[in-house]
Amino acid sequence: QHCFTKSEDGYLCCEGRKVQDVMETVERSPFYLYSKSQITRNFEAYREALEGLNSIIGYAIKANNNLQILEHLRKLGCGAVLVSGNELRLALHAGFNPTRCIFNGNGKTLEDLVLAAQEGVFVNIDSEFDLDNIVAAARIAGKKVNALLRINPDVDPQVHPYVATGNKNSKFGIRNEKLQWFLDAVKAYSNELKLVGVHCHLGSTITKVDIFKDAAVIMLNYIDQIRAQGFEIDYFNMGGGLGIDYYHTGDIIPTPGDLIDTVRELVLSRNLNLIIEPGRSLIANTCCLVNRVIGVKSNGTKNFIVIDGSMSELIRPSLYGAYQHIEFVSPSQPDDEICTFDIVGPVCESTDFLGKDRKLPTPPVGTGLVVHDAGAYCMSMASTYNLKMRPPEYWVEEDGSISKIRHGETFEDHLRFFEGL
Ligand code: LLP
Repeated sequence: QHCFTKSEDGYLCCEGRKVQDVMETVERSPFYLYSKSQITRNFEAYREALEGLNSIIGYAIKANNNLQILEHLRKLGCGAVLVSGNELRLALHAGFNPTRCIFNGNGKTLEDLVLAAQEGVFVNIDSEFDLDNIVAAARIAGKKVNALLRINPDVDPQVHPYVATGNKNSKFGIRNEKLQWFLDAVKAYSNELKLVGVHCHLGSTITKVDIFKDAAVIMLNYIDQIRAQGFEIDYFNMGGGLGIDYYHTGDIIPTPGDLIDTVRELVLSRNLNLIIEPGRSLIANTCCLVNRVIGVKSNGTKNFIVIDGSMSELIRPSLYGAYQHIEFVSPSQPDDEICTFDIVGPVCESTDFLGKDRKLPTPPVGTGLVVHDAGAYCMSMASTYNLKMRPPEYWVEEDGSISKIRHGETFEDHLRFFEGL
């Protein structure tokens, strides 16, 4: 069951509510519209997949840091994966249990590491200097840090190079040649930290589970080697990265169940706790960006639908050439001519597009147009370029009512940065 469906009379609905009706009740467009129940269903898919394993589902907050969504996921039982001090602060604010939080990153500052050490979150060791900082933070906080070593397994995730991380020339983690050096160093710092696990993250938008299995085999091999030196390794953190069906073509995309099944026996055979760090696969398909058509124009051989949303609100197509499915919220009329359009925003950049070469009926001005699968890495990557202020967010509650879950940013918010200078 998925939250976005079509009504019998051809209107796009979110949990049975016509998106068109929502557009008429909210204050402005574009806006993000989520289904709270879809978030629950996505989480439950992970929970069911992990049955029989000791596990932590660490939601990667970078995908979407809406506080209401974080609180909802926390209540469902999620932990959190953080990549900055502010993400850590937000997770604590949302009530996440610090012992189910993991602090990741290749450039963690000493100040942020001190907070992590004080709060008792897991910390991933990413490099030599990162280890130095973690040790220093543990001393300042007067607390021993539970650490995982991020090892780069050099497995090709077969994704866009901008979202690949687990290959050998990546800026993340350490390579196996340095493993022994790190183990010796960790031993020397046994007052400051305890090595409790290993971590890897291959990349994002991965749609073949064999890739995760290949990495797990390599990583468990490292765990065997590390245990053989007397370390008590309890955690295997396999990272995130499971892709979703952005194309809406009905292609079979592996589910959380498929993902966990490929590593289940390996994890059980070594008596490990499994940490998994999903972002996109928990949140992307729970949301769309709702826009209005400002007008239609043609230039040369191109036709354009110009909408009020843009790369400022949703940058993935511009940044990665990402495909996100686009459709109108209302049925077309029989005489609306079908053309091939680029869907573009009002921002002064030629890279400001949400979709290219889409076959769509020619829409009247004011028509609602949605960009699907906008729950992950859309609002959290939004900017105010061209002073397009960040949009409001709403969700459909379990009872079908609409609630605002984030205010839209305003021009006055912008002016506040200059007050009292
Ligand atoms: N764990 C680590 C260490 C990560 O770096 C990431 C994502 C995740 C977990 C969550 O990955 P997910 O399950 O969401 O794929 N902005 C890009 C995606 C960047 C992903 C960064 N790291 C996009 O819009 O596609």
